[in-house]
Amino acid sequence: MLVGLLLLIIFLCLVDYWAKKPRNDMMKNIPTVRNLPIIGAVSELASFNAENLASKFEIFRKKYGKAYKSWIAHTLILNTSDPKHVEAILSSSKHISKHRLYLMLREWLGQGLLLSDGTKWQNMRKIITPTFHFKILEEFVEVFDQQSTILVEKLKPKADGITVIDVYPLICLMALDIIAETAMGTQIQAQKDENTRYVKAVNDVTDILAMRFMKPHLTLKKTFKFFKPKLSNKQLEGILYMHLFTNRIIEDRRKSLNKSKTGENGSDENIENLGIKKRMAFLDVLLQSTTSNGEPLSDEDIREEVDTFMFEGHDTTTSAISFTLRAVACHPEVQKKLFEEVKELFGADLDKPITYRDIHGMKYMNCVIKESLRLFPPIPAIGRFIREDLELYNCTIPANTNVIIILWEILRDSDIYEDPLAFKPERHLENNPKSNTFSYIPFSAGPRNCIGQKFALVEIKCVLIKILRHFELLPLGEDVHPSIKIVLRSKTGVNLGLRPRIY
Ligand code: HEM
Ligand SMILES: *[C@@H]1O[C@H](CO)[C@@H](O)[C@H](O)[C@H]1NC(C)=O
Ligand SMILES: *[C@@H]1O[C@H](CO)[C@@H](O)[C@H](O)[C@H]1NC(C)=O
Ligand SMILES: *[C@@H]1O[C@H](CO)[C@@H](O)[C@H](O)[C@H]1NC(C)=O
Ligand SMILES: *[C@@H]1O[C@H](CO)[C@@H](O)[C@H](O)[C@H]1NC(C)=O
Repeated sequence: MLVGLLLLIIFLCLVDYWAKKPRNDMMKNIPTVRNLPIIGAVSELASFNAENLASKFEIFRKKYGKAYKSWIAHTLILNTSDPKHVEAILSSSKHISKHRLYLMLREWLGQGLLLSDGTKWQNMRKIITPTFHFKILEEFVEVFDQQSTILVEKLKPKADGITVIDVYPLICLMALDIIAETAMGTQIQAQKDENTRYVKAVNDVTDILAMRFMKPHLTLKKTFKFFKPKLSNKQLEGILYMHLFTNRIIEDRRKSLNKSKTGENGSDENIENLGIKKRMAFLDVLLQSTTSNGEPLSDEDIREEVDTFMFEGHDTTTSAISFTLRAVACHPEVQKKLFEEVKELFGADLDKPITYRDIHGMKYMNCVIKESLRLFPPIPAIGRFIREDLELYNCTIPANTNVIIILWEILRDSDIYEDPLAFKPERHLENNPKSNTFSYIPFSAGPRNCIGQKFALVEIKCVLIKILRHFELLPLGEDVHPSIKIVLRSKTGVNLGLRPRIY
């Protein structure tokens, strides 16, 4: 009996070994994370969580190098921050499918731009690219300005020079207001009331999905429902409500667009001159877009893209703005220089509105944001699913491998950046010969890079300018402790103190 069991186990291990062998051989130059028979690295990975992931990245790089592979049962995963691997993968227009882990986002975002692939992605990317035309962004500056004014008013009572403020939740509500108004043309007033149903749904669902990302047994819809029926219901309800909300807005905007088109004032509109007229939301542009055979987009297509913007466009910018504020607060010499640049443009007039042209020439501001995104990338890792064998310089990734590209590590690579852990905006003033488009990649790179990059940078700048004009930032409160929940957050909050600026 015992002998039989033993023989069975040995037999299974052998089958396991031979099943994995061809793929192991293709990747023989890449070190393997603790590889037990059958279960692979499962026991090792069980100790990973949102709050230790960033330090695990560092530990693993020291132990295994810039690339390592791991087996989870019979799934092969390559984690890499080797610039040569990253360039080969991100520059490819063939290997554009997303890591299997992203699939759970489909429950909310459907086949929106972030998740689709193949011709669906290609067509939509072509249609959506013009919605980020600078003329449209120019109009959004007014929204950034108005919403950051509300934020400043909320901060004023706390600006006493001693109160510790965790800015993350406040910025998050502002970012939600901004993305709702720019993506859907709708004011959701999150900053005034964070308990409205839509705002709660966005925040709840984002949090639940972020939690599931780190828990392999909850990634599948079915297992999630089985292990966490209550949370699963909460997610379901939230998503249902958000879909209802977006659909209703789409319907409204479609109607009013039809009215203005058929009315006597309707004129031949095209995307090139849309931005100059009354402000258009992304949604309005999508409503007027057509596929390559001249058909308008379906309501569902539009809903998926609008939801994708709502998801991709608020947590990321919240993270970027919060971490930049903390970094500036902790580096008085940087703050001084940055404020000089702001003062030169706006003087002491706190009410002078910000324009698109103002922010264009702000050289030092650019460097500060670049440096903050380097040390604190809002999306610390991205994932791809490799469908066909992909040959790299020192290995071949076998078909059906999941790849994780660790932006966090590339952006802190001492082979690329001198003194990589230091916050030094000045390093971006000069051209760094060791860095290129595939190593400075907080927005990813290649055909699937962030489509909202320009939008995000304009938003971040507008908010920083507004806050710096009103307040001096102080390094109060506990330091940040990275917690990776799809986007970079901080377990300890993102703290600082404020004092009114004296001109
Ligand atoms: C600082 C802020 C932001 C950062 C750091 C950021 C970063 C990224 C990264 C790394 C990707 C690649 C994801 C992947 O390969 O899986 C991405 C994709 C994307 N981002 Fe952003 N993002 C930011 C803001 C925004 C904003 C404001 C929007 C929308 C208004 C947006 C919309 C998108 C979309 C739609 C994609 C998918 C593009 C595609 O696959 O074709 N992002 N972003
Ligand atoms: C292949 O590249 C990875 C990642 O940089 C490295 O860890 C490994 O040692 C390399 N192998 C060889 C044989 O060069
Ligand atoms: C690879 O990266 C992913 C995503 O950040 C992480 O969840 C996983 O634990 C990493 N695997 C290893 C072996 O470090
Ligand atoms: C636009 O409005 C007209 C009349 O008001 C209606 O006949 C037509 O079906 C509408 N078109 C769309 C696409 O809703
Ligand atoms: C058409 O334009 C006139 C004057 O510019 C304005 O009063 C009217 O409300 C507009 N009508 C529509 C349907 O937009």
